[in-house]
Amino acid sequence: MTQIAGSSTNKRLHIDVHLNGDGILETMADDVRLGLSAPQKWLSPKYFYDDLGSNLFEQITVLPEYYPTRAERKVLEDITDGLMSHLRPAEIVELGSGSSIKTRVLLSAPSAADHLRRYVPFDVSEGIVLSAAQELLLDYPYLAVHGVIGDFEHHLSQVPQSNGRRLMLFLGGTIGNLHPEQRTFFLREVRSLLSEGDRLLIGVDLVKEVNAIEAAYNDSAGVTAAFNRNVLTAINRGLSANFEPDSFEHWAFFNEVESRIEMHLVPAKQQRVRIPQLDMSLTINPGESIWTESSYKFTEESIRRMLGSAGFHLEHLYTNNEPDSLFGLALASPAN
Ligand code: SAH
Ligand code: TRP
Repeated sequence: MTQIAGSSTNKRLHIDVHLNGDGILETMADDVRLGLSAPQKWLSPKYFYDDLGSNLFEQITVLPEYYPTRAERKVLEDITDGLMSHLRPAEIVELGSGSSIKTRVLLSAPSAADHLRRYVPFDVSEGIVLSAAQELLLDYPYLAVHGVIGDFEHHLSQVPQSNGRRLMLFLGGTIGNLHPEQRTFFLREVRSLLSEGDRLLIGVDLVKEVNAIEAAYNDSAGVTAAFNRNVLTAINRGLSANFEPDSFEHWAFFNEVESRIEMHLVPAKQQRVRIPQLDMSLTINPGESIWTESSYKFTEESIRRMLGSAGFHLEHLYTNNEPDSLFGLALASPAN
């Protein structure tokens, strides 16, 4: 593990890095080998978020078609004062924190400076956590920031020891990017990081009219398409592969049976790809696709079940009640 301690001007910053020397997750080689050998080729979405990918995601959040970020922010604004003054957390731990922009709503709550001591952003993308942390330290003089750079599917045990009542955040609908088995495993790990009195606040995109959902993943400016192709660029860099990202088309649709958006990359013509670091060659034909991402959409019932199976009790599901941009924040407590 690498540690970046606060400089003399900034004693409130501490960052732990759990990536290998190249800044790449050690699991990339195994994940890519497994995914590209399967009958339906797939890639893990965690590799989307290199510096360019994180930047493209920030652009997605302000697209007119992409309702989740705005909708979630609205719900967060509605509940923040009540939640913070009632719960009075000593720390906020945020998984998949990205730019931490929405988190500012909570950090700015009237009561925050009285009880909140520490913010722990946890993300796979080092660049975005570093820049977010610097800005938060300037804007919130009462706060210490202890960032953790790692994979929330592998490094959750690296979350620092609790220093008081903990509010755990998992925003952005990122839970929906995990498949059912993955998210139960993940949520059980999260459960083990919480004690009585702690809470989990989790952002969940809700089932709604299909056109509204599909539009959010097929924006007219093509940012989501660029984001999708960027996973190939990240793999080219990480494993010296020779994918031609521009030779793939973006394809995203709602799979109603599974209640998820599926995002794929489809080759415009036959692609031959060499991945020297895996000693692997493959051919991808038109008519095939690489499945790069899923984004599951939930109902109150499926949220209750998901949380229940991981040892959480759903206390309340807050929503914005707007049919075309319906989004939920589920407040959960650890069950005994
Ligand atoms: N919470 C922010 C960002 C959501 S995008 C928001 O609501 O806008 C998803 C974030 O999760 C990205 O910042 C990405 O880098 C991070 N992420 C994705 N997979 C991850 C993993 N396996 N481990 C840690 N972080 C991950
Ligand atoms: N958690 C986000 C979501 O599922 C991530 C996301 C937004 C995303 N747009 C995307 C992932 C486009 C892949 C492609 O909505």
